[in-house]
Amino acid sequence: MVMPDFTKYYSDLAKKIKASEIRELLALIRERKDVISFAGGIPDPAIFPKEKLAEIAKYVIETYGDDALQYSETKGIIEVRETLSDFVLRYRQITADAEEIIITTGSQSALDILARTLVNPGDVVITENPTYLAALGAFKNNGAKIVGIPIDEKGIKTDVLEQKLKSLIENGERVKFIYVIPVGQNPAGTTMDKDRKQHLIELASKYDTLIVEDDPYSYIIFEPNVEVASLKSMDSENRVIYMSTVSKILAPGLRIGWIIAHPELIRKFELVKQYIDLHSPTLNQYIVAEAIKRGVIMETVSKAVPRYRRKRDTMIKAVEEELGGLVSFYKPVGGLFVFTYVMDERFLADSLLEKALMEYKVAYVPGGSFHPDGSGRNSMRLNFSYPSEEQIMEGIRRLGLFIRSSLK
Ligand SMILES: Cc1ncc(COP(=O)(O)O)c(C=O)c1O
Repeated sequence: MVMPDFTKYYSDLAKKIKASEIRELLALIRERKDVISFAGGIPDPAIFPKEKLAEIAKYVIETYGDDALQYSETKGIIEVRETLSDFVLRYRQITADAEEIIITTGSQSALDILARTLVNPGDVVITENPTYLAALGAFKNNGAKIVGIPIDEKGIKTDVLEQKLKSLIENGERVKFIYVIPVGQNPAGTTMDKDRKQHLIELASKYDTLIVEDDPYSYIIFEPNVEVASLKSMDSENRVIYMSTVSKILAPGLRIGWIIAHPELIRKFELVKQYIDLHSPTLNQYIVAEAIKRGVIMETVSKAVPRYRRKRDTMIKAVEEELGGLVSFYKPVGGLFVFTYVMDERFLADSLLEKALMEYKVAYVPGGSFHPDGSGRNSMRLNFSYPSEEQIMEGIRRLGLFIRSSLK
């Protein structure tokens, strides 16, 4: 018996996709109690409303019985889309009826659906530089050419964006969309202000392209008076495709997200989604709708925000004390991350990760992979939602020792 050479059968995509050494290294240490990890991007399980979700799950199965366990519409259950329509109107000032909403299997699946629907190989997708790693993956897997635009503490620099849009269009490039995470950006922790958002919308209109607004974090805000108006709520031309998820405000394991866009686009997303997963889990859709109706999502948010604010403050203080003079960062007003650039660019966070894990027992995500232009190898993404405050203080102390020893 001869085992087949599986590589002969791989698609071009499968050949192109490589396991990331960094992911594997981080996976290795996941079970190790002696390593303090800032690498996840995950909620603190203390915020999960376990009892309420158990009650809701029982209620949903008993009440919606046959429907909740059955196949359902690709776009999402109509009652659930209607509940989401009320939710986004109330909390994100987005006016969208059920026909403008499609339920997805988390936002990750939304990113893939978007890319499959809008991107041909060679098309340009503009992102912030740095941006969410898995969005880059979804866009690139569909052949997108990524153009990264620098950011400051107010997010994407729209003056640079305008120059870039001009030159791309002059060169005959097709810019399919501009992907932004306006609030509590992953990884950089930046939040756009109203002027920046307005300018971005004007540019999309002037240069005739679309905006993808990825919005998992606008509920997780630590300061009063932070500008969180969604781009979608400011959009009068239907150029904004909005997406969000329950992952950071209820539970990521439910895998429920949504896209809001013009019904014509939603129809295309629906056709594309049909062949990916038929529909997102029916039971979980009912659970999410019931959690919204009972106010459980906003209760979870009110529990998460003070907890994460304390952890953010602890991390910032520790970074200032232990890494002062070594790194630069934007103080995040929302989200889950502090993103640090080691000022001495000889520090290569990716090649040094193994040393951090093995010798200093501290984990981070090297920032290079968030930069579509290959820059940022001196950066690290540090998550503060998951570790305890004690772990944050001790972990940042270890990071200080590690960075200093690496620069000797
Ligand atoms: C900006 C951004 N988009 C999308 C996602 C994916 O979220 P989901 O769990 O809904 O797939 C994340 C998760 O961390 C994220 O940070």
